[in-house]
Amino acid sequence: MSRPLSGISTSEIGVDREDRLPIQQQIAKQIRALVLSGRLLPRARLPSTRVLSEELQVARATVVEAYEQLVSEGYLETRLGSGTRVAAELPEALLATASRAPARMRETAAVTREPARAFRSGLVDWAGFPHDEWGRLLGRLWRNPPLALLEHNDPFGWLPLRQSIARHLFEWRAISCEAEQVIITAGSLDAFDLICRTSLRAGDAIWFEEPGYPTARRIFSQAGAKVVPVPVDSEGLVVAQGVERSARARAAFVTPARQYPTGVTMPLARRLELLEWAAQARATIIEDDYDSEYRYVGKPLPALMSLASRASVIYTGSFSKVFSPILRLGYCVVPKALVTGFRADRLSHGAPPSLMAQPALAELMDSGAFAIHIRRMRRIYASRRRTLIEALRPGDGRLYEIQASPAGLMLLLRLPRPLRDGQAVARLARAGIEVQSLSSHYAGGARQQGLLLSFAGYDEAQLQAAATKLIEVLS
Ligand SMILES: Cc1ncc(COP(=O)(O)O)c(C=O)c1O
Repeated sequence: MSRPLSGISTSEIGVDREDRLPIQQQIAKQIRALVLSGRLLPRARLPSTRVLSEELQVARATVVEAYEQLVSEGYLETRLGSGTRVAAELPEALLATASRAPARMRETAAVTREPARAFRSGLVDWAGFPHDEWGRLLGRLWRNPPLALLEHNDPFGWLPLRQSIARHLFEWRAISCEAEQVIITAGSLDAFDLICRTSLRAGDAIWFEEPGYPTARRIFSQAGAKVVPVPVDSEGLVVAQGVERSARARAAFVTPARQYPTGVTMPLARRLELLEWAAQARATIIEDDYDSEYRYVGKPLPALMSLASRASVIYTGSFSKVFSPILRLGYCVVPKALVTGFRADRLSHGAPPSLMAQPALAELMDSGAFAIHIRRMRRIYASRRRTLIEALRPGDGRLYEIQASPAGLMLLLRLPRPLRDGQAVARLARAGIEVQSLSSHYAGGARQQGLLLSFAGYDEAQLQAAATKLIEVLS
């Protein structure tokens, strides 16, 4: 367990003995990132070298060396009797010229926007985004780019980022993979396209969650696959129903961590059942895992890919929810046996995503700042989720039934008959509230009625006001 240490907890600093970076540099890098992200403020006290070395189980001299390095760089100060503190004036602040305002959100005259209306999806909390640190990383890397970056031509993307993703997946999703299996994509849709070209032939059947992610469904059917809707129950895709509808399907598309859009998590027994079917049918499972880092209740289950010993699982992830939806970066992890086929496809089709942000993202992940960002955002989103549930409580059981997923950035309100969700969406839109209908996520006939509310991009006051209005409109 991590204990708070002078304002930071040891879960925010870790050492990786497998890492090629020496331990004192790992420690220094993480503290530097904590300072630069504002997590450690000027004059904040650091734990003593004795305490930190005990917590991290490293030699005290190693921590002393890390602190000394940061003192020499100007990030820390040591005073006799008062221990080590973050410098009152930071090096970056000293370097900044007076005319260069810190990077932060500004509305420019040329680019104005309508404020987003709750509960529109696809937004994150921009106030919590590390704009300053991100800007600094991008600036530093591209003002003086290494030749390796300028002459980069690997269609799978920047290798250090692929290594960082492999480490992230091991820590967060229990997936053990090598960087060579990781492909940087321009988001999930690029990944689905890639998978269609490499793993499916026209006419191949693919199980698809019903209700499910309409965009992915469209991509598979545009690629010529026969999309077979398979009902979802409280444990996710019902494998027995899939077998009944198309036992010899070539693939299955699932969102086991947090089913989109119902929000249910697939328990272990169902996961094993799905893997067993895939192994026997020699089918490929496409595991779409797009926001499971945001889990508020219970421990996340290991990814399907981490459980697959005989079945072939392709894992797709995205930086859209956990970092920035405008970055347009994601990744896909393929079994070793498929690497050559994916590489050939990447070389001959489409265009790999821009390299601009990839090295900065790798540095952010390696410094530990990315994990800190996710943890901080998770706290913010947990509180927003709680606020929204409380604000919706007066209508619960009367106007709708709140189905709060333990993870993700969305709530589902199930509507009682005879209220049609399409009508509710239209009425709410007239009142300035944006929601998505559950029924629009079905391909087939029997559609359940419900409303999907995204809460990530709105502060507590906005959520409360919008919830009150929603109750008023539906009453
Ligand atoms: C089910 C699902 N998968 C994946 C994604 C991520 O897509 P992208 O990486 O293209 O932003 C989303 C985003 O909303 C989603 O809802």
